[in-house]
Amino acid sequence: MTKPIDLAASVRSIVDYPKPGIIFRDITTLLGDAVAFRQAVDELVRPYTGLGVDKIAGIEARGFILGGALAHQLSAGFVPIRKKGKLPHETVRIAYSLEYGVDEMEMHVDAVKPGDKVILTDDLIATGGTAEGAVKLLRQQGAEIVSACFVIDLPELGGRRKLEALGVEVRTLMEFE
Ligand code: PRP
Ligand code: ADE
Repeated sequence: MTKPIDLAASVRSIVDYPKPGIIFRDITTLLGDAVAFRQAVDELVRPYTGLGVDKIAGIEARGFILGGALAHQLSAGFVPIRKKGKLPHETVRIAYSLEYGVDEMEMHVDAVKPGDKVILTDDLIATGGTAEGAVKLLRQQGAEIVSACFVIDLPELGGRRKLEALGVEVRTLMEFE
């Protein structure tokens, strides 16, 4: 087996994007590195192997990239959770707040069945507002959230604690300030 690389070194940091005071943690550099992308997906799926997960729910936009890979590796279906107005069929919708604004997200009303075992994924958890909204949407439709996983945690912003307070297990690969 090849030696694991330092995944955090493949994340690019951009100061004052998209607003002054924000350090944007850009995973496109990790995704563009074949070794880093494979290792990140392998590390994310490892704890879930054999759990019989039905669906991976990925949050637009970067959660789609990871979620598709996780769904393939776990032989699960994929559910897109999108910004409002993007999905063609009947949806359920929820407002949420994030590190630098407010928005609304939607999921198709029939995207999960009651009792489906679902893992939520996204590239990064900051305040946890986005993931909290997604957890609420999924639970409203009767899904069981097995876990939520992210490449990056910004612990000072409290997102992990917010999800854990909702009874959701949180797994992440690295932390940044
Ligand atoms: C980013 C990130 C998460 C969210 C995390 O997405 O991909 O979805 O912010 O922030 P929070 O924990 O404070 O809610 P963004 O809203 O920038 O959307 P994008 O992926 O469409 O660019
Ligand atoms: N989403 C919320 N905060 C973020 C950050 N600092 N970097 C990248 N995505 C984010």
